[in-house]
Amino acid sequence: MGFAMLLHVLSAVIWVGGMFFAYMVLRPVAAGQLEPPQRLPLWAACFQGFFLWVWAAVILLPLTGYWVIFNVYQGMAGAPLYVHAMNGTGMVMIGLYLWLYFGPYRALRSAVAQQDWKTGGARLATIRRIVGSNLLLGLLTITLAVSGRFLVPA
Ligand code: HEM
Repeated sequence: MGFAMLLHVLSAVIWVGGMFFAYMVLRPVAAGQLEPPQRLPLWAACFQGFFLWVWAAVILLPLTGYWVIFNVYQGMAGAPLYVHAMNGTGMVMIGLYLWLYFGPYRALRSAVAQQDWKTGGARLATIRRIVGSNLLLGLLTITLAVSGRFLVPA
């Protein structure tokens, strides 16, 4: 159980921490210093590397979460409210990531391959909004996970 929770929390740290760095640090620097022909390939390459880790996270988070739910709480019905809330926000986060990956990210890659900077810029703007939303949801989910038991009754 300790190992499952370790994988769970490491997945959350890597996913949410990566989004925080991309959104809060790299995004303003890249936007300020690079033109689209440099900026869009940079983002496509960064996403390619980061999304390998995000795939691991979106598989491990529900897997280890349900493992704990079924072994510690004997199922969803026995789980406290904050775990239900985490399950809900976590599922929305995973849904947003799947949309991002199969929608705008794929479109960004093909736009970059064709050096179509206008389309690429539009797809990157969509990705920015999705990552911004997922970052907020991720921080909320961590808040629920860590403080939930103190904030809401079981
Ligand atoms: C996708 C469905 C998810 C399920 C079913 C789930 C389930 C769980 C469960 C059962 C626990 C143990 C709670 C306890 O007994 O105290 C837990 C802990 C935790 N979860 Fe999730 N989780 C999910 C997604 C997420 C996501 C997306 C994040 C962060 C982005 C996250 C962050 C955490 C953290 C940080 C803890 C540790 C809390 C602590 O020990 O203080 N979880 N999760």
